[in-house]
Amino acid sequence: MNYYYIVVISLLLVLSTSVNGQAIGSPSLAPAPAPGPEYTNLTELLSVAGPFNTFLDYLISTKVIDTFQEQANNTVEGITLFVPKDSAFSKLKKPSLSNLTADQLKSLCLFHALPHYYSLADFKNLSEISPVNTFAGGELYSLNFTDVSGTVHLSSGWANTKVSSAVHASYPVAVYQVDKVLLPEAIFGTDIPPSAAPAPAPVVDIAPAADSPDGKSLAASSPDSPSHSSTHRMMCWGMLNHLFLAISGGLLMFL
Ligand SMILES: *[C@@H]1O[C@H](CO)[C@@H](O)[C@H](O)[C@H]1NC(C)=O
Ligand SMILES: *[C@@H]1O[C@H](CO)[C@@H](O)[C@H](O)[C@H]1NC(C)=O
Ligand SMILES: *[C@@H]1O[C@H](CO)[C@@H](O)[C@H](O)[C@H]1NC(C)=O
Ligand SMILES: *[C@@H]1O[C@H](CO)[C@@H](O)[C@H](O)[C@H]1NC(C)=O
Ligand SMILES: *[C@@H]1O[C@H](CO)[C@@H](O)[C@H](O)[C@H]1NC(C)=O
Repeated sequence: MNYYYIVVISLLLVLSTSVNGQAIGSPSLAPAPAPGPEYTNLTELLSVAGPFNTFLDYLISTKVIDTFQEQANNTVEGITLFVPKDSAFSKLKKPSLSNLTADQLKSLCLFHALPHYYSLADFKNLSEISPVNTFAGGELYSLNFTDVSGTVHLSSGWANTKVSSAVHASYPVAVYQVDKVLLPEAIFGTDIPPSAAPAPAPVVDIAPAADSPDGKSLAASSPDSPSHSSTHRMMCWGMLNHLFLAISGGLLMFL
């Protein structure tokens, strides 16, 4: 009888210490929360999401990536990027990017960013103050925003597109995927062929949007879910550990 209890208790103690060891060894205990906003490596962000390789290559070859990273690093304003997927570049036939000058290519890259952090909720305001100047500066490099039943549409004159998902939306860096390469009138002129501007009546937008991008987009941008789940797992281990100790303590009292 007594022997049986001793075996059970030693077993429980061994189990609880091993569980305890595992919890302490868990790497999620290590980092203390930083006081300021986190550093976001834009190169890394764009190279793992997407694929945005074409756009990233342009950003690197023009060194615009450094301008963007500096804005993200060192300003309270933050930054908002609109990144076209690789397929948007491969679909782009009409105005070719191949014979742009280095300066034009640089401006094209800068045209895909706003020198301020905008969450999805902020785009309603942007539609009220459109046209909005981009990082490329000046009126000829501005974008028009419209809010169509919660979907953000943006227009450069040449390209009418919409925000199709949020890649990253955590101050100071917002990155949104767009369906088309944004082409500024400052580079390609105002003589826009009709096929490039398919929206004939932009004012009348009564038709309800079939898809609801908001929930989907926001769900796509939850950068801190893994840390939540690991915290949760740790709490479970801790509770289990306490349970073992309570049971073995109770058994000791019976002896
Ligand atoms: C940012 O990420 C890129 C790609 O992963 C890496 O080459 C670079 O060293 C990183 N920069 C910093 C400052 O961590
Ligand atoms: C941004 O901050 C990171 C981390 O502090 C640093 O390594 C990097 O050089 C900075 N980049 C720029 C362009 O300021
Ligand atoms: C690029 O070159 C092609 C011919 O090679 C020409 O037709 C086109 O107008 C040029 N585009 C620009 C933006 O200069
Ligand atoms: C957006 O507009 C609302 C009112 O329409 C205002 O309360 C809010 O401060 C504005 N946000 C920004 C970022 O301007
Ligand atoms: C933006 O909207 C204004 C007013 O509706 C219009 O005059 C302008 O041409 C538009 N600009 C672009 C780039 O679409």
